[in-house]
Amino acid sequence: MTTSVGAKSRAQIPARTLRTDRWWRPPVVTGAVLAFFIVYATGRIFMNDYYWVPEFQYLTPVYSPCVSESCVPGSVHFFTILPAMPVFIPIALITFAILAGFRGTCYYYRKAGYRSFFLAPAACAVPEPHKKYTGESRFPLVLLNAHRYFFYGAVLFGLINIYDGVLAFHGKDGGFGIGLGTLIIWVNLVMLWGYTLSCHACRHIVGGKLKNFSKHPLRYAYWNFVSKLNARHAQFAMISLFTVIFTDAYIMAVSAGWISDLRFVN
Ligand code: FES
Repeated sequence: MTTSVGAKSRAQIPARTLRTDRWWRPPVVTGAVLAFFIVYATGRIFMNDYYWVPEFQYLTPVYSPCVSESCVPGSVHFFTILPAMPVFIPIALITFAILAGFRGTCYYYRKAGYRSFFLAPAACAVPEPHKKYTGESRFPLVLLNAHRYFFYGAVLFGLINIYDGVLAFHGKDGGFGIGLGTLIIWVNLVMLWGYTLSCHACRHIVGGKLKNFSKHPLRYAYWNFVSKLNARHAQFAMISLFTVIFTDAYIMAVSAGWISDLRFVN
């Protein structure tokens, strides 16, 4: 039996929707933000430049960790696993794959993408144009279930970002220093960790597969903490998107010499 909106078992309402509010606004705004981010991130990773400020040791999160032999001197903080790349291949390939995979399979972005790009549905009580619904049970959408694995990658990259953040306390004279870039990097770090720890997969990892919490007080405490963050996951998802773009744009501008870093200490 079909359950689509045109099914005979459904109330036959000639109007497309009975909603009279501006239900179309959230999906349009969210879609515009996501489209901007996709265009910005794509342009940025193909730039292959302006991702490192040697004077203050600022490395943009979009290129962290830098693991290609093409990375500019000083920007490799661990080791290289990619050879020197031709200019048209992004050196941030691995970073981008993990971060895009994590965000692209995120439950929040899935909801946002379905509503904004596929109108499936665009809003509650607004019928979708598709005749058939197969959920995420078939290829390619079934691949979205890989989210929990991307979560582990995001945690690893988040730890690397903390290391980058510590290095960013670097002064002109080589000692300790704080600039506006340092603060921007750390605000972004807090938002990124808020986003990562509020992930639904994280909540399941810390509190799932238990018969009762009373025998696992530590996991219960983690689960309570993550659950509180989880209630704000959508906000963390959107705010961290902007903080990543802003951090990257600021470091790009300082690295390219378009602006100078505002220094507070050294
Ligand atoms: S559900 Fe959004 S990051 Fe995991």
